[in-house]
Amino acid sequence: MTDFKNFIAGAWVPPTTGDYFENTNPADTSDTIGRFPQSGAEDVARAAASAKKGFAAWSRTPAPIRGQVLQRIGDLLVQKKEDLARAMTREMGKVLLETRGDVQEGIDTAYYAHTEGRRLFGRTVPSELRNKWAMSFRRPIGIVGVITPFNFPLAVPTWKIFPALLCGNAVIWKPSEDVPHTAHLLVEILLEAGVPPEVIQLVHGGGAAGKALVEHPDVGVISFTGSTETGSLIGATCGRMHKRLSLEMGGKNAMIVMDDADLDLALDGVLWGAFGTTGQRCTATSRLILQAGIHDRFVKSLADRAQKLRLGPGLDAQTEVGPLIHEASRAKVEEYVGIAKEQGASVLIGGARGQGKGLERGWFYQPTLFVGVKPGMRVEQEEIFGPALSVIKVKDLDEAITVNNDVKYGLSSALYSRDVNAAFRALNELDNGITYVNAPTIGAEAHLPFGGVKQTGNGHREGGWAVYDFYSEIKVGYVDYSGKLQRAQIDTEV
Ligand code: UN1
Repeated sequence: MTDFKNFIAGAWVPPTTGDYFENTNPADTSDTIGRFPQSGAEDVARAAASAKKGFAAWSRTPAPIRGQVLQRIGDLLVQKKEDLARAMTREMGKVLLETRGDVQEGIDTAYYAHTEGRRLFGRTVPSELRNKWAMSFRRPIGIVGVITPFNFPLAVPTWKIFPALLCGNAVIWKPSEDVPHTAHLLVEILLEAGVPPEVIQLVHGGGAAGKALVEHPDVGVISFTGSTETGSLIGATCGRMHKRLSLEMGGKNAMIVMDDADLDLALDGVLWGAFGTTGQRCTATSRLILQAGIHDRFVKSLADRAQKLRLGPGLDAQTEVGPLIHEASRAKVEEYVGIAKEQGASVLIGGARGQGKGLERGWFYQPTLFVGVKPGMRVEQEEIFGPALSVIKVKDLDEAITVNNDVKYGLSSALYSRDVNAAFRALNELDNGITYVNAPTIGAEAHLPFGGVKQTGNGHREGGWAVYDFYSEIKVGYVDYSGKLQRAQIDTEV
């Protein structure tokens, strides 16, 4: 069995703890990918000491030159797309079509960062005083701690690492324990592309490593994607230590289908939104809000189609739905099936583990449909993160909007309707960071801001132009060339 290493201070090194954890294929737990470091505070401290040196040089490298490195990263990702996708499916479980998309999102993010190296705009604005210039520009911040989840083993880390690097920061990355191999492969690519060795540090491990990273005094910025519970703990520490923090957490995303919708389109959309990635996206459709006129018909077609989705290993070309990431994740879905029944909803299809040939050694669970779900039930309010969809019947758009908004999360939402007035009302009134019209709740593009309202996040956005504000410090410069003392707010007569 291969023992993988951390990448700290410019070298691949074993953890100071001497501990390792095993990484297995969720579609076949007899397939072990390797052992990865179970790092501790000492490993993080070494990474931080080195990242400080990396930052000193990288922050002085001109942004367009940093951008060239990002371009080479993009080129390497293009070259290695298929190999990466296969490794990711083996480690994480989702189907190849989706891991290819995951790599593509990383490629898009790299090329966006490349061009941002020649933009990274500041502003020059008029001063209120004569012969004085006023301007803002960006400075790198320092060491960024990046903590990422399993569901997008490549795309989500790149959303954080690439803009952080382009802005001139050094990065310490603690990837999810469920997908350390993808992290290893990505860091190899970064180094091959020319990221200076002390500018990127990879520290594997679980909660102890993550905690040490968040608490390290030299790590001034933290970017985290994961559960709301962990996000709250990180938020408390960052608040106490005055750190800059970006959180992307849970979702309870709804698709609303109105009586006038193109129902075939909505059906394709909900199958992709709810059961793609086995429901393990923070953008996954986990509530389906149906207008009464089409409710019964739509539920019937949906049940027919969802039942036919082929469960299996993601590397098998026939598979449409892969396994869940691990046993605890499947147990959580099972628990919610019990809760749904207890609270009076019915399980129309699914509600059981995947059975049959090829499914014996993986964390498979059948696509599951809860019907008769009422607003306020736990399956309607809580994130399940699996292939389970709750159907809620409403009478009109007003009620649909109320139901959509009455949860603690606010990542994405979708409306299917042919009525342009309804579409604009949805854009304006649904409390989410992203609303789709006639498209499912998943599928954000790399060059637009990504994030949610309420307990989904803490006000920051990833992606697009917005994330560059998070990874840079805005500095303001005033240059007074009048040769005399000019007092702002005082010497301002016409
Ligand atoms: C996530 O689930 O954490 O919009 C990210 C989407 C993807 C990204 C999802 N492009 O579904």
